[in-house]
Amino acid sequence: MVGSSLMQTKSLWISLASFGGVIFVASGEESKNFKAPEDRLAYTDVVVPILQGKCYDCHGTGKDQKKKGGLLLDSWEGLLEGGEEATALVPGDVKESFMIEVLRLPEDDDYHMPPKKKTQMEAPEIALLEWWVGSLPKGNQQPKDQTLKELNAPQSILDAAAKLASPEELAAAKAAVEFAKKKAEDVAAAKRKAIEGALSALKRDELFKTSLMYVSQDSTELEFTAVSLRKSLNDEGFKKLAPIADSLATVKVGSTLISESVLISELPKMKNLTKLDLSQTEIGDGGLDAVAQLKELEWLNLYGSKVTDAGLLKLKALPKLQKLYLWDSKATLEGAAALKKELPGLETYFGAN
Ligand code: HEC
Repeated sequence: MVGSSLMQTKSLWISLASFGGVIFVASGEESKNFKAPEDRLAYTDVVVPILQGKCYDCHGTGKDQKKKGGLLLDSWEGLLEGGEEATALVPGDVKESFMIEVLRLPEDDDYHMPPKKKTQMEAPEIALLEWWVGSLPKGNQQPKDQTLKELNAPQSILDAAAKLASPEELAAAKAAVEFAKKKAEDVAAAKRKAIEGALSALKRDELFKTSLMYVSQDSTELEFTAVSLRKSLNDEGFKKLAPIADSLATVKVGSTLISESVLISELPKMKNLTKLDLSQTEIGDGGLDAVAQLKELEWLNLYGSKVTDAGLLKLKALPKLQKLYLWDSKATLEGAAALKKELPGLETYFGAN
């Protein structure tokens, strides 16, 4: 099963996640800026990127080392040491090198590599690894890394190498990944900084000490869970969330004392909410106009509320809504069915959970 479509892609932006599928045709103008295949170093520029793309995830000393089958493929020593069952690399001997044999085994063989459901090798990648193993001098000494030209690689091998991303493109793709990561980190840091003051002020309030927190350690989103505040969270308390309203992803204020009019004034400020629990609150059809403005909403609990079928239909403005709890409200199965016609992805629940 060769993903030949990959080989037709001329994009410079290579599969970024793991370099899985670094193959494409470098042609025309683009290739002029890149190291020609014959000038690439056999190990560093050709073999390593292939193994990195298709093997290191399970046989590499990365951040979280994986040594499947007792085998590390990301160093000369690891290659020579081999795995639990066999010698992975015998320099100069393709037939005795299990790392080549496993590539050629039928896909449903337990030892076929990469394992079934993973991104498979492309034919030129296999050809290059095989050629490299065969080109190595016998013995365990790691040879000096040489270019394909210096190693007298045949034309078929130069053609195969031309189908791989060049070292420059790999470097550019890697730099792009790092840049995007850095940028995302900067954005997250700026987001946290922007609400730092407001958040720490709120956290000094007894009401929010344990009820308001970041969704996770690295998250920029907040959740407010008023489970222990049923008797104490009123309009005044809820309004205090306004300065951080943008950052709230989850708000659970079921069974609290908040009035419908304050829900109407405050909820639209929380425009990034994905999860909202208004169970057993005063909310009725009027309040659903405010809820209908929360375009990111995926999960909504209206259990024990006063909403009716007429109000329910306002929620058709929420394209991402997936789960809606209506037990013990004034809404009916017919009302839910009418809404589901508008939102086919929606599940509604009338049960006690
Ligand atoms: C998704 C994880 C995964 C990837 C990717 C992967 N392998 Fe493996 N590999 C394994 C596992 C698991 C075993 C052990 C198989 C067993 O014992 O049945 C193994 C075993 C091996 C062995 C036999 C080791 C021994 O002596 O027992 C070789 C050789 C090998 N892999 C080479 C490769 C090569 C070359 C690649 C890349 C083209 C690769 N593997 C990619 C998971 C992976």
